Amino acid sequence: MIDFKEKTIAEIVSSDISAASIFKKHQIDFCCGGNKTIATACEEANIDVSLIINDLANSKKNSAIPQLNFNKWNKDFLIDYIVNVHHTYIRQNIDIVNEFGQKVASVHGEHAPETIKISALFSKLTEDLKTHLEKEEKIVFPAIKAKLADSNYLFDTEVIHLLEDEHDNAGTIVKEIQKLSNNFTPPEWACSTYKAFYFKLDEFINDLFQHIHLENNILFSKFRNN
Ligand SMILES: [Fe+2]
Ligand SMILES: [Fe+2]
Repeated sequence: MIDFKEKTIAEIVSSDISAASIFKKHQIDFCCGGNKTIATACEEANIDVSLIINDLANSKKNSAIPQLNFNKWNKDFLIDYIVNVHHTYIRQNIDIVNEFGQKVASVHGEHAPETIKISALFSKLTEDLKTHLEKEEKIVFPAIKAKLADSNYLFDTEVIHLLEDEHDNAGTIVKEIQKLSNNFTPPEWACSTYKAFYFKLDEFINDLFQHIHLENNILFSKFRNN
């Protein structure tokens, strides 16, 4: 059996992306705080490490679908994948999730004031993301591709740190949303829009975690090692 305890969270998710949902379920940050071992992260978050290790072991047993091995991908292709899959997902979903949030906040905000905060936090997150994606697509990703094609190309690695800081800021907002929404659990009396809002928020944040994981732990770290 794999000794999960000694591995970092980023290593585990990099070798098997399905582990991402297990870390998310236990509210362990795998994209921005991925450089810790499971034991350390659990100790800090006051979570029983054996619960997570059991879930990981069970998910290995049950997974019959071949996993994508992002680690082995050519970095040019990884960049194209991130843009085509994750950036496109964000752009296609920002408006609808914001619309649900505003509707729920205006109809239910009086009885469930957290929905007003969640809607405002999500709107802030998506405004930040719009400029972040532009920065990656127009400046940083082309520079990484140029560096990959020509090792003499001058590339200022400071921009990588800037993007990682922006990922951290997004992670802070996401944690707040997770807490306020009780990990995306609507109340029993919730209407369909309320349920749809939490469902889409959960989906959006799952996608965002995987996206940031690919950038922080695979694309940028490999690039830094070059
Ligand atoms: Fe991105
Ligand atoms: Fe990013």
